[in-house]
Amino acid sequence: MSEQTGGRPAGVPSSGRVSAGAQWPAHVAIIMDGNGRWAQQRGLPRSKGHEAGFQRARDIIRACGEWGIPYLTLYAFSTENWRRPAGEVSFLMGLLQRAIREELQELLENNVRLRILGRLQDLPAALARGLKEAEQATAGNTGLHLNMAINYGGRAEIVDAARAIAAEVREGRLSPEEIDETCLARHLYTAGQPDPELIIRPSGEMRLSNFLLWQAAYAEFYVTDVLWPDFTREHLLQALEQFTHRQRRFGGI
Ligand code: FPP
Repeated sequence: MSEQTGGRPAGVPSSGRVSAGAQWPAHVAIIMDGNGRWAQQRGLPRSKGHEAGFQRARDIIRACGEWGIPYLTLYAFSTENWRRPAGEVSFLMGLLQRAIREELQELLENNVRLRILGRLQDLPAALARGLKEAEQATAGNTGLHLNMAINYGGRAEIVDAARAIAAEVREGRLSPEEIDETCLARHLYTAGQPDPELIIRPSGEMRLSNFLLWQAAYAEFYVTDVLWPDFTREHLLQALEQFTHRQRRFGGI
């Protein structure tokens, strides 16, 4: 299977629900939403919802690796999430720090290549360093490409790309006429990767929330009422199956 092409490799559970010969998406992106509501429904603090959400993320990463999905992007913390109460922000930063420390070995063993999408420089220094080191440690891996969107905003990403392009123009390395869609895409955090073909949003909200604004141009959406901490690989299979039935026209007829 080429890096750019989705597929349904051997080993996928034969649920009978996946159409024969249908292509799976090369890139799946997930807005992990509903941790707070999940906790609230159980009378638990929101932090318990985030912990349960983290366990879900582990399962889904493993499933994508096993099923040969080439690219997976998980939205873990947005540039807007800083507006949450300080205690929750600090809990999430700690959870991310713990996750990277505890999971790095597993990423290495499973040939997962990690890329962080977002403004690392604005994260707590130890977390930023840990994420950078994990990126470097997994850079040679050839299995699942896992993007973690952390302190990520789609608008911020486009602003960062515009700044980088402007700097190249100023230094005489690029002329304004050379700036086209390919050039802009090359300056995004996802440079070199295929655009997401399927964006999944649990918890029923029908919005993009500043996620992959440029890359989502032709993505298919799948929204489910299931809250993220309840989202299992069975739910992922349902989303993948539905994707295979979508008619994608990319502006044509
Ligand atoms: C949205 O639920 C979730 C987040 C803002 C954080 C996502 C973080 C995780 C799933 C845990 C960290 C994951 C990894 C892989 C380290 P919400 O709090 O907005 O839920 P609500 O809308 O019900 O309040």
